[in-house]
Amino acid sequence: MFSVALREDAELRPLEVWHAEEFAAHMDKAREHIRPWVGPTFVTEDVDKARDLLRRYAERRAADSGGLFGIWWRGELVGGVLLVGFDADWGNCEVGCWLEPGAEGNGLITAASRTLLDWVFHTRGLHRVEWVCRADNERSAAVAKRLGMTMEGQRREAWPYQGKRYDKQIWAILAPEWKAQSST
Ligand SMILES: CC(C)(COP(=O)(O)OP(=O)(O)OC[C@H]1O[C@@H](n2cnc3c(N)ncnc32)[C@H](O)[C@@H]1OP(=O)(O)O)[C@@H](O)C(=O)NCCC(=O)NCCS
Repeated sequence: MFSVALREDAELRPLEVWHAEEFAAHMDKAREHIRPWVGPTFVTEDVDKARDLLRRYAERRAADSGGLFGIWWRGELVGGVLLVGFDADWGNCEVGCWLEPGAEGNGLITAASRTLLDWVFHTRGLHRVEWVCRADNERSAAVAKRLGMTMEGQRREAWPYQGKRYDKQIWAILAPEWKAQSST
């Protein structure tokens, strides 16, 4: 019902429990592509698990501690951006993202993240947004860089995946940095 136009062919909307079937169908296309790079609980296997995930995010949204937003591109749900660890008192949050492979390479995540960061910094008045990715996730790090974030460090071998441990990068941007680059 409510949506923000990212551009002519793409919209950002809250992803809600009633999207469970659409989300599950999208996840069938995205699952193997995103599995190595996102938390295991995000990779849902069927409609019931999709509904559980959407409910968890609805509860976080109700508690003002997170949010999940889908990107509809050419009328289809193809991915999204999310808020995790959203803490208005401390002024911090983390932004995450994902796409199905057919939607990569079109600037959708950069556009959606910009919209989300504007809301986080300007409307909600937070001070710091983090972006956390596996150190070998070049496409994700490229988005963080495009958003003007700084790579603050790596947590060594903090990301276990299929019997191996990977380094984790922490990127971040602060409110004055975001506002300065938005006004240029
Ligand atoms: C991380 C991920 C979301 C990045 O997707 P992406 O499509 O590379 O990112 P964007 O949507 O910002 O698109 C940027 C690309 O679109 C291109 N592009 C095309 N039109 C564009 C436009 N109008 N504006 C900006 N970029 C545009 C850019 O050149 C860039 O392509 P390139 O990297 O080949 O140079 C995606 O790779 C993914 O889902 N990976 C698996 C899950 C994952 O890693 N999630 C993140 C966990 S931390």
